[in-house]
Amino acid sequence: MHTGKGRIDEILISGERAAQISCHPGLIPAPGRYLLAHAEADSSAPLPHPVFNAGYAPDGFYAAAPIPSTWLPGLELNLQGPFGRGFNVPTSARKIALVAASGSASRLLSLLEQLLAQKAEIVILSIAPLENLPRAIEILPLSALPETAPWADYLALDLPRHQLEFTLEKYRPILLTAGVVELLVETPLPCGGIAECGVCAVRQRKGYALACKAGPVFTLTDF
Ligand code: FES
Repeated sequence: MHTGKGRIDEILISGERAAQISCHPGLIPAPGRYLLAHAEADSSAPLPHPVFNAGYAPDGFYAAAPIPSTWLPGLELNLQGPFGRGFNVPTSARKIALVAASGSASRLLSLLEQLLAQKAEIVILSIAPLENLPRAIEILPLSALPETAPWADYLALDLPRHQLEFTLEKYRPILLTAGVVELLVETPLPCGGIAECGVCAVRQRKGYALACKAGPVFTLTDF
């Protein structure tokens, strides 16, 4: 875990607000992991904001949407992290499905660099519109999950915690037709595990787990 300064270089508005953040390379979160970011100049936000990677930038990374409305270009951030368990895509995977059930696919987009490097075919299922992606990436609606899962040898699903139980109850048989399945569970992450606040608890097969430390990426077999 590192601490350091970051700076918002640019705000990107394409459906949702996202930010380009410059920082030390050691602070850039791997896909699925996160930083805690706090702006001293922003008195309206006493708690740090969890920041996920949506892609790599020349001097840092693109922070996944949503970001606080008070974040503007030039704002300095105190950064801590990276925290948590991120995605672990098998290097042998060649057919990849990225499924955004949370309303934003941005937390999944940081996987693209690795996936394109390993020459994988990529399908993104999303309810949100997606722009500026390589033409080779196929974009489908969420309703294509039953046909897509059996094709995929790796599937990443991003969903909010309140949808977890319902999603697994309804779609577990379909998800089990994919090779490896990982779930990025979106919860509040106010302390990153430092204060053990318990706000991020996720119910699993063997009891509760803290998404801030044991996740926020879990495997399907954890549930
Ligand atoms: S965010 Fe506080 S224990 Fe997980």
